[in-house]
Amino acid sequence: MSRIAYVNGRYVSHRDGAVHIEDRGYQFGDGVYEVVLVHNSKLMDCEGHITRLERSLFEMDMPMPVSRPCLFMILRRMISLNYIKRGIIYLQVTRGVAPRDHKYPAHSSPALVMTAKHLRFCEVISDDGVKAITVPDERWARRDIKTTQLLANCRAKQRAAEQGAYEAIMVMPDGSVSEGSTSNVWILTPNGELVTRKASNDILNGITRQTIKSIASERQVQIVHRDFTVSEMLGAEEVFVTSATSIVTPVTEIDGTVIKDGKTGCLSAALRADYFKKSDRTAL
Ligand code: PDD
Repeated sequence: MSRIAYVNGRYVSHRDGAVHIEDRGYQFGDGVYEVVLVHNSKLMDCEGHITRLERSLFEMDMPMPVSRPCLFMILRRMISLNYIKRGIIYLQVTRGVAPRDHKYPAHSSPALVMTAKHLRFCEVISDDGVKAITVPDERWARRDIKTTQLLANCRAKQRAAEQGAYEAIMVMPDGSVSEGSTSNVWILTPNGELVTRKASNDILNGITRQTIKSIASERQVQIVHRDFTVSEMLGAEEVFVTSATSIVTPVTEIDGTVIKDGKTGCLSAALRADYFKKSDRTAL
């Protein structure tokens, strides 16, 4: 079964999908993207992802390449053409093709590309906890924009992989945790507060994070938006990360320190189960 990609208005075989060598995404990382989880052939949290895409584009002075309903239609078509039951759709918008020059070109058309990928269930969601390491946060100051320029994130994830860890948790110069290289980080404190950093330019405001926030509120869990340090995280009752691909993934060891008893915490497990119940109802 051949994979199908979407490239600027055309559905093409994944193998043949290509963009111009002077696409600004290729030369400058001048683009933004989204990753949408597909579960039971439906798009999870899709409205949230499209809304964040619009925001990222706005912040980068780029127009939406197609209307919102059209984007949604292409996403749905990608699921059916690729027979995705469980997987992800990756979509990116770059500023398009122009002779290389740092300033934005006066005239260029945004380029829209989408790919689809099947995921086995165990790749989407880990029942067992994962290991993480901490690394310095080396990124730029606008981490709220979901840009394709991900060098610092790639470096961090590579460090984690080299140490047999799933995630690299990034730490700001002031010692506070910002987020994971591909996820948001949460801790449950010994006094029962669920803590996550407040949304600002320091982190990407995860769409999964926003859904988990509302699920936690429904469960009457007290959510506190504030910074926390590595030592507070290491002494937490539970640590977990959230993202479209990891949903809620418990972190049971960080830098060789076992979190609590090293097992998946009750709250992490409950939030993860609730995510599928809630998002299944709202999936498109
Ligand atoms: N990344 N923070 C960072 C730096 C991320 O890259 C991601 C997701 C998140 C979580 O966002 P969301 O819940 O909307 O997926 C937070 C995706 C999965 C990726 O780059 O592949």
